[in-house]
Amino acid sequence: MGRIVTIIGTRPEIIKMAPVVKALDGLDHEHVLVHSGQHYDLMMDRIFFRDMHLREPDEQFELKEQPPHLQVATTIRQVADVTKDADLVIVHGDTNTTVAGALLAKKQERRLSHVEAGIRSFDKTMPEELNRIVADQLSDVLFAPTATSRKNLEQENVRAGVHVVGNSVIDALTQNLAIAEKKSEVLARLGLTRRRYIVLTFHRAENVDTKERLARALDAFEGAADEAELPIVFPIHPRTAKRLREFGLEKRAAALFSLRRIEPTGYLDMLVLEKEAALVMTDSGGLQEESCFFHVPCVTLRENTERPETLEIGSNVLAGTDPAQVRAAVRRQLAAKREWPNPFGDGTTGKQIAQQVAAFLG
Ligand code: UD1
Ligand code: UDP
Repeated sequence: MGRIVTIIGTRPEIIKMAPVVKALDGLDHEHVLVHSGQHYDLMMDRIFFRDMHLREPDEQFELKEQPPHLQVATTIRQVADVTKDADLVIVHGDTNTTVAGALLAKKQERRLSHVEAGIRSFDKTMPEELNRIVADQLSDVLFAPTATSRKNLEQENVRAGVHVVGNSVIDALTQNLAIAEKKSEVLARLGLTRRRYIVLTFHRAENVDTKERLARALDAFEGAADEAELPIVFPIHPRTAKRLREFGLEKRAAALFSLRRIEPTGYLDMLVLEKEAALVMTDSGGLQEESCFFHVPCVTLRENTERPETLEIGSNVLAGTDPAQVRAAVRRQLAAKREWPNPFGDGTTGKQIAQQVAAFLG
C-alpha cells in the first residue's frame, strides 16, 4: 500500500479537487488530505467542504495574511513532515499552495503529480503562470485537461507521464448541479429573474492591485450594465474588497446603482447564479469553464486566457477592462448563439485520475 498526499488550500482547489479526492479515497492506498490554509474565511473555504460533502483535511495549516513568498516558504516548512515519506504528492492548478507543494515534493525527492497541467496564458507577469510552469516542469504524472494543454507541455519538452483527462470542474458541476437546483434559493433571496442579470467575479491581482485599473474596471461594470440594461450581481472576493477599501473606491462602487455587491457565495448558489444568468463577466479561470458548460456567454475581463478553447468555440471573449471594449464584448456575447460544445470533458476526470494514479503506484 502506497501513501498519497494531496495538497489543497484555495477555493478553486477545494472545488475542483473535491471529486478527485473522493475518487482517490476509494483506492487501495493511504490518502492524506492536506490544507495549506491559504484561504481561510468561512465563505472562501469551509462552505465548500459543506456544500460538496468533502471530508475534513487530515492536516490543516494556517497561513493567514502572509505575502506570496512567505505563503510558499511557510507551506514548505509546515507540510514537510506530512510529505517526507509520500509515494506520490498531488497538487492542483496554479496557486502559491500549488508551487509550494511541487517544490517541497521534489526537494524531498518524492514523486509529484499535477492536476490541470499544461494550461498557459503565455503571460509570465501573472503569478499563476509561473506557478503552473514550475509545477509542470517538476511533475512525474501530469493530468492535462485538453489536447491544447498537452501540446503546451510538449512545447516545453514535457512528454512523459502526460494524460489528457478533461477538467474536474465538470465532475464537480455535474455531481452538484441537481442538488444546487433543489437546494439553492439564491435567485429568490436576491430578487433575481432568470436571464435578467449578469453575474460578475473579479479578483485577479493584475486587475485589482492598482487603483487606476480597479477604478477603470468600475467604469466598465457601469457601462456593461447600461449596455445590457441588466443589473450585475457581484460576489466580492476578499482581495477585491480589501483593495476597494484601501484605494478609497468603496463609495464609487456603492454609487453604482446596477452593481449589486454581495459576499462570496457558496458553491451551490454560484452554480445556480451562473446557470441562470444572461451573461457571465469574470477574470476567474473556473467561471470561464463553468459558463461554457452552462451555455451562458462569458466576457473575460483580462487581456489573455489560459482557456483558449472557450475563445475558439465562441463561449467566451477577451475584453480586458477598457470600458468601450467591455461594452462591445457584452453586446456581442448577449447576441451569441449558445450552441458551443463543452471542451472540458465528460465529468469522469476524478475517476480517470484515480485509475492512472493506481497504475502509477502499482
Ligand atoms: C489566489 C490565487 C489565484 C486564485 C485565487 C482563487 C495565488 C498566487 N493566487 O489568489 O490564482 O485565482 O486564489 O480565489 O495563489 N483573503 C481573505 N480571506 C481568505 C482568503 C484571502 O481575506 O479566505 C484576502 C487576504 O487579504 C489575502 C488576499 O485576500 O492577503 C489575497 O489572498 P491570496 O490567497 O494571497 O490570493 P488570492 O487573490 O486569493
Ligand atoms: N465560486 C463560488 N462563489 C463565489 C465565486 C466563485 O463558489 O462567490 C466558485 C466558482 O463557481 C468556481 C470557483 O469558485 O468553481 C472559481 O474560483 P476563483 O474564481 O476563486 O479562482 P480561479 O478559478 O480564478 O482560480
